[in-house]
Order: sequence, then C-alpha cells, then structure tokens
Amino acid sequence: MRKTKLGLNVLLSVSYVVIIVCVLAVITLSVTSYLGKHFLSNREEEQHKVLEDCASALMPYLEEMEPNYVYEVLSVYARQGNGRMLFVDRQGCVQSDTFCTLNGTKPYSEEIEAVLQGKSDFSVGYHNQKILPTEITKDNAFLAGATDSYWSGYYVRAISSFGEQKGAVILIAPVQDIVKNVGAVTNGLFVFSIILIILVAAFALFLSSSLTSSIRKFNRAISKMSSGKFSARVDENEIAEFGELAKAFNMMSERLENLDASRSQFVSDASHELKTPLASMKILSESLLTQPDAPVELYREFMTDINSEVDRLSLVINDLLTLVKTDKGSETLVIARVQLGEVIKQIISTVEPLARDKHITVLYDYVDVTVYVDELRIRQVFTNLIDNAIKYSPENTTVTVTLTQTITNAVVTVADQGIGIAQEHLPHLFERFYRVDKARSRQAGGTGLGLSIVKQIIEQHEGEITVKSEAGVGTTFTVTLPIAKQ
Ligand SMILES: Nc1ncnc2c1ncn2[C@@H]1O[C@H](COP(=O)(O)OP(=O)(O)OP(=O)(O)O)[C@@H](O)[C@H]1O
Ligand SMILES: [Mg+2]
Repeated sequence: MRKTKLGLNVLLSVSYVVIIVCVLAVITLSVTSYLGKHFLSNREEEQHKVLEDCASALMPYLEEMEPNYVYEVLSVYARQGNGRMLFVDRQGCVQSDTFCTLNGTKPYSEEIEAVLQGKSDFSVGYHNQKILPTEITKDNAFLAGATDSYWSGYYVRAISSFGEQKGAVILIAPVQDIVKNVGAVTNGLFVFSIILIILVAAFALFLSSSLTSSIRKFNRAISKMSSGKFSARVDENEIAEFGELAKAFNMMSERLENLDASRSQFVSDASHELKTPLASMKILSESLLTQPDAPVELYREFMTDINSEVDRLSLVINDLLTLVKTDKGSETLVIARVQLGEVIKQIISTVEPLARDKHITVLYDYVDVTVYVDELRIRQVFTNLIDNAIKYSPENTTVTVTLTQTITNAVVTVADQGIGIAQEHLPHLFERFYRVDKARSRQAGGTGLGLSIVKQIIEQHEGEITVKSEAGVGTTFTVTLPIAKQ
C-alpha cells in the first residue's frame, strides 16, 4: 500500500502551532508564578507587621498572664490581619484563641514547630483547609468564593521576654483572594492563548497554502515542459524568492522554446537544401531515361549538371557536419600557438586564383600576432570571410584584409567594395541557411551556412564578429580574438 505523505502546508501549520503553544505555555507559567509570588510576599510583609505590633502589645502582660486581656489584644490584631489569632506557650499549648475552639490543645504545623524550636523568629507556610460551617457565614467575602476548601497563610512569630522564649503568636489568615486573582489572570491568559492559537493556525494554513500553491504551479509547468510543451510559463507575481525562481524558469523555458523552434527550422531548412539538388538530379536523369536515342552532347550536358549537383550536395553535407562538430562546444577545440599573420597570408594565397579570375586585388596589411586557437577552425573562419568578399564583389575591385593588435585582442578586418548588404538583412546574416539573394548566392555555390559556422567558431574562442555594410558600396567584417595565454 502506498504511504500518503503529509503535505508541506500541514507540516508547516502544525509546526507553527506547536511553537506558539510552547511559547504561550511558558509565558502563562512565568506570569502566573511571578504574580503569585509577588502578591504573597506583599501579604507576608503586611502580616509580619501585624504580628510585630501584636507581640509588642502582649509583652507587658506576659509575666502575669491575664487571659482576658490577652484575648482582647489578640482579637484587635486578628481583625487587623483579617484572620484568626492564637497565642501558644513554649510547649505549643494554646493559651488563647480568638475563635475559642483550640484553647488547651497543641496544634501542629511546621511553621509553629520551627519558631518554638528557636530555628527562626518568624515563619510562614500555606495550607489548604476545609471551610467550616461557622466560617462560611462569618467571613464569606474574605474566602473569595471558595466552596469547600481554601488556602490560608500561617504566620508565626516568636515572643520572648528578656531573652527568654515565652511562646509564639500565630495568625491564620486566608490568602484565597490572591489565589482567586491569580486564577483569573491564568484564565484570561488561557482564553487569549486559545484565540491566538486559532489565529496563528489560520494564518499558518493560509501562508503555507500559498507557498505550496506556488510549488504546484511550478510542478504543472515542469510536467508540461517534460511532455514537450516548451510554451509553459509561470506567473512571475509571486513572493520574492518564488518570483525570482519564476523569472529564471521562464527564461529557461523561453530559451528552450527558441532552441526547439530553431532546431525544427534547421531540420526543415537542411532537408530543403538537400532536396533541391536531389530533385534536379531526378529531373535530369529521368529526361535522359525517357529519351533512349538522345544525342551524346545532351548526355554530356545533363551528366555535367548532375555532377555539379552532387558537388553541391556534398558541400551542404560537409557544412552540416562542420556545424554539428562546432555545436559540441569549445571542449572539442585543439588549442595551439598560432602566428595569425602567417595563417591569413596562406589563406590569401590559396584564394588568389579565384580573385585573379575576377580581376580582384587582395591587399593584406598585418603585424605579427601570436594567438592560442584551434588553427583548423580559425582557417575556416578567414577562408569563409575572404571567400565571401571575393564572391560578392564585382570584377576590378579591391578586397582589403588587415591584422592589428590591441592590448588584449587581435583584430582582423575583411573589407570589400562589393554588392553590400541592405540594413534589414544584417541582423539575420549569421543565421543558418540565411542568404540575402538566394538565387545569386546559389549561383555562386553558397549554402548559407558559412557565416553561422564563422560566428560559432569565433564565439567558441571567446571572440567577437561584427559587420558593417552599405548596399552597392561594400562590406566590412571585423573579427576580434583575445590574445589569451595558453
Ligand atoms: N562580403 C559580402 N558581401 C555581400 N554579401 C555578403 C557578403 N558575405 C556574405 N554575404 C551575404 O550573406 C549571406 C550568407 O553568407 P554565408 O557565407 O553564410 O553563405 P554563402 O556564402 O551563401 O554560403 P557558404 O559560405 O556556406 O558557401 C550570403 O548568401 C550573402 O548573401
Ligand atoms: Mg560564404
């Protein structure tokens, strides 16, 4: 069975909620514990003061115990302390109780014990105790709404006379009002926390859903792309990072779309180029076959045409193979130290016969420049450019080739006084199979692949090629090659 994985939005929302619950729990605990301690210590100070005063008031009557008087004093301070007051002797036996129920008994609590044993002068403890029926009527408001039990503070102070311990006064006073107030704060915080948690959960769900919806959009676009639909694009109006990602993705898909389009264009152009010579060969051979008694001259003429079409075919195929090779990128380059001036000189001497046929003068002006390039490919570049210059120039003109050097580059220009190229053709000049005048270029034996091969090779060498031309005046190609160290 396939395991269903939790969605990113669920995981994110749960994490947010867990974090906020922990934070709120810590805040609630700290606040309530701080408030509780603060109120209790204030109350302790007040009750300590009451016991101090009570002890001072009792002092003169300790030697000859006057029970009524002691009771009166205790009652006054019991009212001040809002509680019950006891006076116990050194053995812990109650001598006087403002509630009159514990006289003669020996109540036990840690605080009384600590003071009677002389461990400290003043001691406090808190105890939860049952509400007696008498107390309910007596001090109801004071018990702060407690129903069957309530919290009391036991405040015990030692009483001594001339350094001798005489006993202790005990004030038992409810602290239920503090418990109730702190409880109210806790409840308030609890309600606030619940509301906050709901809000955070809703916000987290909204936030994470918008994140995952962006991811889903990318997912859909990627699926489309992988099924060959390169027109897929993603909305760029996204949260910052996703917006950037969308821009990068769209750029990539646009490039892929263009690549795909140019690949299809290339295939159709290439097959067209191959079909044309094949079609004329077919017509020529068929017309010979249908005329069994055709004169030898006709045979010879047609066979010459077929032969030149075969030459054309192999020219196109050779150029295509070169393109495929250069398409593989600069890793296939065989870089070596090359004297560029000498190489161009050799190229000019090989095309010289062509130029001579058309009475074209090729001028060459150069300085010696050493570059690190793939010599075969660079030869191809300048052969193509000089060949074009001669091919597209009328008779009795001049082609000028120059080689100069800047700090970083070798610069070669090939300028002719030929037919020139109209401005609207310049942006397409380096496209595959692009020819300005198809008929003319075909007649001159061109395939329209020369300049695209040139550009590809130059770019592989991290160089640059530009063209300036004016129809009827002439064309200048400028090639810049970096003089990189090996
Ligand atoms: N020096 C030039 N003067 C005028 N037009 C030119 C010149 N160089 C190139 N062109 C134009 O640019 C087109 C593309 O040139 P490119 O070298 O790519 O192809 P080609 O010369 O027709 O064929 P190939 O070089 O593959 O045999 C040419 O067909 C031609 O119309
Ligand atoms: Mg050419």
